[in-house]
Amino acid sequence: MERRTVLKIFGIGIGGAVVLGAGGLGTYYATARRDTVGAIDFDSPLVIPPLAESTVAASGARVFTLGLQAGETAFKDGPATRTWGVNGSYLGPTIRARRGESVQLAVHNGLDQETSLHWHGMHLPAAMDGGPHQPVAPGATWEPAWTVDQRAATLWYHPHVHGATADHTYRGLTGLFIIDDAEDDAEDGSADASAANSAANSAGQPNLPSTYGVDDVPMIVQDRAFDRDNQFVDRIPLAGSLGVIGDEILVNGTLGPYFDVTTGLVRLRLLNASNARLYNFGFSDDRRFALIATDGGLLAEPWETDRLHLSPGERAEIVVAFEPGETVDLRSYPSPGLGGASGRLDGFEDRLDVCRFRAADTLSDDAGLPTEIPARLADAPDLAGATVAAERTFVLASDQINGRSMAMDRIDFGVREGTVEVWEVTNDNGFLHNFHVHDVQFQVLTVDGAEPEPHLRGWKDTVLLVQGRRYRLAMRFTDHTDPNVPYMYHCHLLQHEDDGMMGQFVVLAEDESVGTISAAHAHP
Ligand code: C2O
Ligand code: CU
Ligand code: CU
Repeated sequence: MERRTVLKIFGIGIGGAVVLGAGGLGTYYATARRDTVGAIDFDSPLVIPPLAESTVAASGARVFTLGLQAGETAFKDGPATRTWGVNGSYLGPTIRARRGESVQLAVHNGLDQETSLHWHGMHLPAAMDGGPHQPVAPGATWEPAWTVDQRAATLWYHPHVHGATADHTYRGLTGLFIIDDAEDDAEDGSADASAANSAANSAGQPNLPSTYGVDDVPMIVQDRAFDRDNQFVDRIPLAGSLGVIGDEILVNGTLGPYFDVTTGLVRLRLLNASNARLYNFGFSDDRRFALIATDGGLLAEPWETDRLHLSPGERAEIVVAFEPGETVDLRSYPSPGLGGASGRLDGFEDRLDVCRFRAADTLSDDAGLPTEIPARLADAPDLAGATVAAERTFVLASDQINGRSMAMDRIDFGVREGTVEVWEVTNDNGFLHNFHVHDVQFQVLTVDGAEPEPHLRGWKDTVLLVQGRRYRLAMRFTDHTDPNVPYMYHCHLLQHEDDGMMGQFVVLAEDESVGTISAAHAHP
């Protein structure tokens, strides 16, 4: 039976769930809720993705070489899992560059099929974006280059070939791309971290935990389903609506990870790198933590909370305080109400242990280390009062946006260089969707006409769309015009994206009009 047919029939069943009682879908539904609290051993040290090495080209550009390859990864006892990775068998190195730096990537496709690598959250020319129009053939090397021109932020990279993004990402081609700038004073790998921190203090910049892998910890969170031979399976829940939902959680490719805390404050750079699963992060003792940054960089001020939703593609930087000797677990709690009719099947009622934090008996109190979170972090987004050149409406429903499916050769519209636009986005069916825009970071002006919640007051490139609510997003298109090479906007639930919930726009100079996509790039 086709998934949606099942959903329809079953949707009626959910209304009177007891009617189904034992047997068949009723039992399936009753057991669909997962709770792994207390069931995870947490016996593997959290792997920290290595920082990508770089060389300096004659042009002065910093060159990173990324090899996409197939391999095997031992996640658990027994057979290794066939995976894909970047410069390794699973996931890829963390690329780190400073604002103002010229970077060049050499992406070598060592796989047996075409793929691509997209720099999610990056402001850059469309031809360098790594979307569906920049496929890399097997054996080929693609060399995009650009100058980093945006605030410090936690970005990431993943494949973006049309129709296979979900599959290629699920296999493991994912890594972080961290942007540093003076505002955020993160270490650059060569400077002594504590010296850098003191310098930041005297410069009046926010003093944040910034030693990679020590008190500034990347956390690439993914759900995966394994078969009996330890192979990844595309397990789409019967009657589910979002694509693959795994029942085991990997952080940086580690199953059951623990992290040894050595400092009183730790910054976690959380990335929801799952294809479809929504997380509702919190700690096992419900301790509060501070959200300091969203997709596009630091918030104006930290926001204290005990729960934080993160939908696929979104990032959050949080700072957590630890006491000497304690143990506390990061979890994902249920998100009642966000999943719609099939919510339980798609994991919205799950409670999952994610990572254990084990604090040392004495936590380092080095003079240079931050001991409290600065009250002010950065300038707040400033588009609320801007002159708006165009308003557009986007309705997401039935694997389409505004009633249209993605077509490789159709550019949906052009925006003008130098202008601010407001896009009003609504999720108009019963399932979870989110909305991601390439090239820009946007400001959420309002949600249903009201000021957005604190976690939506910073720069974003991906926003969770609660069913029925109207999100008004303001964005400025500053440069990188190209009438013929589009940027994407889409739902970041990867199966939805592959199924067509995506569109394309170009950035135009004053005298340009929307061009055409060359046949070479328009292949399906
Ligand atoms: Cu993270 Cu268009 O993608
Ligand atoms: Cu993107
Ligand atoms: Cu969607």
